[in-house]
Amino acid sequence: MLIWFVVFIAAMISSSKSRDQDYMVAITGVTGLDDLASATGDEPSLSPVFNLTVRIDNSGNTLHRACVYGLSTAVVSYGDAFLGKGSVPPFCAEKEEVQERAATAWGQGVVVPQFLRERLAGEMKRGEAAVDVQVTSESTDRVLVCSEVKIGGDHAPCRREEVYRRSAPAADGSTASA
Ligand SMILES: *[C@@H]1O[C@H](CO)[C@@H](O)[C@H](O)[C@H]1NC(C)=O
Repeated sequence: MLIWFVVFIAAMISSSKSRDQDYMVAITGVTGLDDLASATGDEPSLSPVFNLTVRIDNSGNTLHRACVYGLSTAVVSYGDAFLGKGSVPPFCAEKEEVQERAATAWGQGVVVPQFLRERLAGEMKRGEAAVDVQVTSESTDRVLVCSEVKIGGDHAPCRREEVYRRSAPAADGSTASA
């Protein structure tokens, strides 16, 4: 009886201390962004390749495993301009575990407006360039939104946002509610 009481209290304490998982993304390397400023022509295009890692920090979670489910896609952008995308494999972090997976996001001949190329070139020169990364999964209604991920920097935190699947807008422009 006493033993069960102790186990019960221990479980209470550990669950009250449990913390949800954090998702994070790091850009570990990039090629194809060196000639940003010098790119010329009518529609100069870029073909960047990003090495990135997606991390699940579940170290504070004593209750549940946390996962990136299904086939996910990481999209890298800068100031709303698409730079590249790539697949992220499904993986999980067990209770109190940290796991990460590497992925490659790339773009071929992407056109980035000049004002953004110039801004990015300046940030690259100062070693301050940061991009935005979104990880979407086919099999969940959640998207990881990771803002200001510094190139070559530490893992940056991601917010988890719900994706509401909506029906197409009605012809008169009003949105129909399902
Ligand atoms: C990206 O990762 C690949 C494979 O690990 C490696 O060979 C390559 O050098 C990396 N590139 C950069 C720019 O970090």
